[in-house]
Amino acid sequence: MGQNSSRQPEHPAWWRDAAIYQVYPRSFADGNGDGTGDLAGVRSRLPYLAELGVDAIWVNPWYPSPMADGGYDVADYRDVDPLFGTLEDAENLITEALAHGIRTIVDIVPNHVSAEHPWFRRALAAAPGSPERELFHFRPGRGPDGELPPNDWESEFGGCPWTRTADPDGTPGEWYLHLFATQQPDLNWAHPQVRSEHVSILRFWFDRGAAGVRIDSAALLVKDPELPDFRKGVDPHPFTDREELHEIYRSWRRIADSYPGERILVGEVWLPDAERFTRYLRRDELHTAFNFDFLARPWEPEALRECIDSTLALHAPAGAPATWVLCNHDVTRTVTRYGRRDTRFDFAAKVFGTPTDVALGLRRARAAALLSLALPGAVYLFQGEELGLPEVEDLPIDRLQDPMHLRSGGTDPGRDGCRVPLPWSGPLPPYGFSPAGTEPWLPQPEGWAALTVEAQSADPESVLSLYRAALRIRRGSPGLRGDKFEWLPGDRGVLAFRRGAEFACVVNLSPAPVVLPAHDTVLLTSRPLDGNLLPVDAAAWLRSR
Ligand code: GLC
Repeated sequence: MGQNSSRQPEHPAWWRDAAIYQVYPRSFADGNGDGTGDLAGVRSRLPYLAELGVDAIWVNPWYPSPMADGGYDVADYRDVDPLFGTLEDAENLITEALAHGIRTIVDIVPNHVSAEHPWFRRALAAAPGSPERELFHFRPGRGPDGELPPNDWESEFGGCPWTRTADPDGTPGEWYLHLFATQQPDLNWAHPQVRSEHVSILRFWFDRGAAGVRIDSAALLVKDPELPDFRKGVDPHPFTDREELHEIYRSWRRIADSYPGERILVGEVWLPDAERFTRYLRRDELHTAFNFDFLARPWEPEALRECIDSTLALHAPAGAPATWVLCNHDVTRTVTRYGRRDTRFDFAAKVFGTPTDVALGLRRARAAALLSLALPGAVYLFQGEELGLPEVEDLPIDRLQDPMHLRSGGTDPGRDGCRVPLPWSGPLPPYGFSPAGTEPWLPQPEGWAALTVEAQSADPESVLSLYRAALRIRRGSPGLRGDKFEWLPGDRGVLAFRRGAEFACVVNLSPAPVVLPAHDTVLLTSRPLDGNLLPVDAAAWLRSR
């Protein structure tokens, strides 16, 4: 049994303040030596995760998939891709993780399936107007010969979200909708079979001990049945944040609640309107959702303060805990983002060749770690964040796999740069990710020897040591549970707050060192203090008794 296991019975609402570690299985650890990470690799590294001190893992999709979108193109929701292992491996992972005190959140993908999913294959083989096609959004094209797409929507990955099919005799036929890549046809959520299938999938994973599900693209499932042209600002959005979604999630909540042990629904809800976002967190809907507003904010005191205030204010009436997210498998790694002139995250602004000061970014990422781990609510860590990995921006172009890059005509760098396999040990690639001599599915940089888990474990000043210490203190500090939060007066450019009577966090985003507020003990700092001065781009955790 791992060190965390004693925590579970006493902490039923575990998800309210959990530290949740995101495992991107393809790039976490390669257990069978084929260059791709797998579930055997994750199982072998559970002691690492227990020592790090996380409460749960969220594992990106492990299902059979042609990997047109890194596994978000699912061909079978009740099995595991041979690349990652077997269904039994997934079951064992869930059980073994729990023995280490770590719960497992499974990624489910309800908006679309893979073009290789049996439902879609049958739909393609069937005639226009057939029941098989009703599970998707098939439509005739516009124009005299149906040669134009049925509407003017844009794909989330750029370009047209419609692809024309060929009838069995080879003549051009209907079009089908895919909000993401061509290989990801959207399901028709107005169809009862689509709904009942996902209820059954939820049960399948809850029956196997999943502590929760992360719901992919959770605000996109329902479409305006007319599939009209998008008249921005005039009509309700035809495919984002539709009212019918809430009834779907209420029905899922009833299922989650019917299982023992607080099984949770975590929504991937990207919405510009924070008030609309929190509607998904009403008491009978999702338990939590990722706070992408925090992730997108620049490293600027007022922007972060404003985000913290609005996040807490919007979550409080819903009774839902906030979440704090600095990065994930879709966005630029924090160390790199914070080392740039523009420190915001914006998908639309990603370009090759942005100058980056990695040392600056690292200082800020260390401070941001202490900030996010001190805020009330749950926190998500993306694998490698605890190692301070930068985005890999010089991957050979011919190795890039992300459809965001491929569909952009090569202008968007895509998301491969944050998905590079983790460095575990040794001086050279593959750094213990795979056995020596095996080439990982994405190449690792030459210069990562100092970033390996092995190297950082031996260094008390490393990012890994900082995360381990912070997670240990977080777990042991009653003030860091619950929702107590109060800003402390402070200098301009300084974020200082108290959590309960004893714990305070101070983050210096001003251009000069600042004096720490009164305290008894310095628990942890992201950079060494200069006497009682907190350096620029640094954070400190303080205790007063
Ligand atoms: C979500 C996932 C992303 C994926 C997309 C389509 O945004 O996080 O990785 O490409 O959905 O499934």
